[in-house]
Amino acid sequence: MALLELQNISRVYGGVIRALDDVSLSITAGETVALLGASGSGKSTLLNIIAGFETPSSGTVRVAGEPVSTQQPDKFHQNIIGFLFQQFNLLDHLSAVRNVELALFPTCRKAQQRYLNSCKLLKEVGLGDRLHSRAALLSGGERQRVAFCRSIANQPQLLLADEPTGNLDKASSKKLLSIVANYMSSHQGTLIVATHDDEVAKICQRSIRLEDGRVVE
Ligand SMILES: Nc1ncnc2c1ncn2[C@@H]1O[C@H](COP(=O)(O)OP(=O)(O)OP(=O)(O)O)[C@@H](O)[C@H]1O
Ligand SMILES: [Mg+2]
Repeated sequence: MALLELQNISRVYGGVIRALDDVSLSITAGETVALLGASGSGKSTLLNIIAGFETPSSGTVRVAGEPVSTQQPDKFHQNIIGFLFQQFNLLDHLSAVRNVELALFPTCRKAQQRYLNSCKLLKEVGLGDRLHSRAALLSGGERQRVAFCRSIANQPQLLLADEPTGNLDKASSKKLLSIVANYMSSHQGTLIVATHDDEVAKICQRSIRLEDGRVVE
C-alpha cells in the first residue's frame, strides 16, 4: 500500500497563482524521492501540503491511508511526519540537546529518557562534543545535523526535507547527505526531499520533476 497518495492536488493563491495544478502521485513506504524543479515550480507548496502546514484548494492527500485533513494534528506531527527545513528552524537560545529533547516532550514522559535519547542521536551524527552548545553558536552544518536529529527523534514514517542543503557549504552538505542516506537505508525510511542540488538527488531512488505546478516526469 502507498504510504503517501496525492489525488488531483491543486493550490491556487489569490485566485490567480496556480502553485500546484492537478498533481497526483503515490509513494511507497521505504522509497526515497527527490522533488526537482525550477524556483517557483511548487516544490515547497507541495511539501507544505503533505505536511499539513497548508491546505490544498482541491484534491486529497492521504498518509498511511488516512486523509491529512482528518488526522489528529498532534499525532500526525509527532509520529507520522518529520520535517527538515532549509533554515534549520532551531531555537537559537537553547542547546543542541534541548532542541532535540523538545521534539520528544509530547511522546516521552521521562525527562531522563528524553535527555539520553537526544544525546544518543546527536552523538550518532558526530555532535557528541556539542551537546550543550547553544544552537546560535553552531555552524550551519552542525545546526542542520541538530535539526535532522530533531526531525527523526520520534521515528516518523515520512521525512520531508525542503532544500536541506540550501544553506550549507559543500563539505557540510556532503556530511549531512551521508547521515541522511545512512539513516534511510538502516531504518527503511521514506524521504521526500525538495532540492536543486544534484548531490541530493543522487542519494534518492526516484526523482519527480515539477514544472509550473505540474508533474512532468
Ligand atoms: N503564500 C503564498 N502566496 C502567494 N503566492 C505564493 C505563496 N506561496 C507560494 N506562492 C507562489 O507559488 C509558486 C510556487 O512557490 P513554491 O515556493 O512552492 O516554489 P518552489 O518550487 O519551492 O521554489 P524555490 O525553489 O524557489 O523554493 C510561486 O509562484 C510562488 O510565488
Ligand atoms: Mg521552495
